Amino acid sequence: MSSVPADILQRLEQHDQAHVVAFWDRLDEAQRRDLLAQIESVDLATLRSLHANRDKPNATNTAPIDPVPTIAHDDPRAAERRALGESALSRGEVAVLLVAGGQGSRLGFEHPKGMFAIGPVSRKTLFQIHAEKVLALSRRHGKPIPLLIMTSHATHAETVAFFGENASFGLPPEEVSFFQQGTMPALDLATGQLLMESPGALFLSPDGHGGTLTALAKSGLLAKLSRRGIRQVFYLQVDNPLVRIADPEFLGHHLAARAEVSSRAIAKNGPKEKMGVLASVGGRCTIVEYSDLSDELAHAADASGRLRLWAGSPAIHLFSVPFLERVTGDPDKLPLHLARKKVPHIDERGRHVEPTVENALKFERFIFDVLPAAERWTVVESLRADEFAPLKNATGADSPATTEAALSEQAAAWLTAAGAEVPREADGSLVYALEVSPLVALDAAEFAEKFDKKTTIEGPRYWGDASVDR
Ligand code: UD1
Repeated sequence: MSSVPADILQRLEQHDQAHVVAFWDRLDEAQRRDLLAQIESVDLATLRSLHANRDKPNATNTAPIDPVPTIAHDDPRAAERRALGESALSRGEVAVLLVAGGQGSRLGFEHPKGMFAIGPVSRKTLFQIHAEKVLALSRRHGKPIPLLIMTSHATHAETVAFFGENASFGLPPEEVSFFQQGTMPALDLATGQLLMESPGALFLSPDGHGGTLTALAKSGLLAKLSRRGIRQVFYLQVDNPLVRIADPEFLGHHLAARAEVSSRAIAKNGPKEKMGVLASVGGRCTIVEYSDLSDELAHAADASGRLRLWAGSPAIHLFSVPFLERVTGDPDKLPLHLARKKVPHIDERGRHVEPTVENALKFERFIFDVLPAAERWTVVESLRADEFAPLKNATGADSPATTEAALSEQAAAWLTAAGAEVPREADGSLVYALEVSPLVALDAAEFAEKFDKKTTIEGPRYWGDASVDR
């Protein structure tokens, strides 16, 4: 029977973490190998210092936080910018990166969030809606668009299987790649000791979407993109079915500015909305997360009464490939953000503990902490109704009800623009659920071209591939 390697035991004892091998005698050889690999992947000294400093404020940066310059949603250069973006798509220079490693605990859904059915009429899942937008865009521009999907140990197997069962929703399978982000352990809030999930395993959770950078480089995908001539990567989060994937106009602004990073901005609906804000800190574009924004800054208004830091981040970005290559060289540069959470675990006698209060420190890196590294950047405003309806919670704000309503409202806006009468209740809400498949239209203009003006709406309607009114 093998014993714990002496160097590892010594390192654990030195950091007061020897409890993680307390059940060693009960483990078989495979479990022991797995546990050792987990221990070796953990930086015990860094964890100790993070725990020791857990009550210090997150931000050490004291530079003033100012509003960021933005390009307006109705910028007069729209047509010219759009043409620029379209030409990059036609040259096959754009890839799409979908971040889907989160556990969606607030939604209370037991599967990867991308598998949640959200199409108000079709019941399509978030994954299908995103995949079909990529497919429609590649058809429109006559070039394949690689779709990279970042998963985590919590979502990987189910996500890959789901795309497999659904024939990648029509995308060429060789254009869809999956890569897994890393993990971080959790510490007991009071003692700083590593929490154990089972006798042979540390409690591990996804390392935050900041892990995208390391994982993209480690997986070899970034090098592959670069070799095939991809110059720009469009980044989106799985939870927002309204996102305009690789929108040519956004892309055009990014290209015209020769930006390394561009980000979308959406006016916050109030000081308390849970959105990070885009701001200028020391002349660099920065996102300050809502949990790190002081009440005073969140509420500050300008002379016209508008929020001074109005530019909410819907987490939609464009990254140039050279920029990604530069920043993935040193991914540990991204700071770790601390969160206090309830983490179920086993105690020193192997009994399961289900905490009722926050008992653990968890750590995540955020991808947007890389923004200030960009030498040239743009922030482009868009309207909420056109771009942002995230699915976060089971009920209330940002829930299935609000996200479905936003999808129906988008279809209604396109119908109205195409000359249709859309029935509404006295309170202004829609009488029927409405939905347009991305394979039919990606925007109002495309929908208007395909829509038969004689159509009347007398019930829920779905404009899918086979049901376009011609
Ligand atoms: C996030 C942003 C916030 C932004 C808002 C817009 C962060 C920290 N904050 O808030 O600034 O205004 O979205 O909707 O991102 N994910 C992973 N791996 C992880 C953790 C998360 O892939 O380890 C993915 C999730 O699958 C999801 C996305 O990241 O697609 C957002 O994560 P979430 O924790 O829901 O962030 P929010 O607090 O909603």
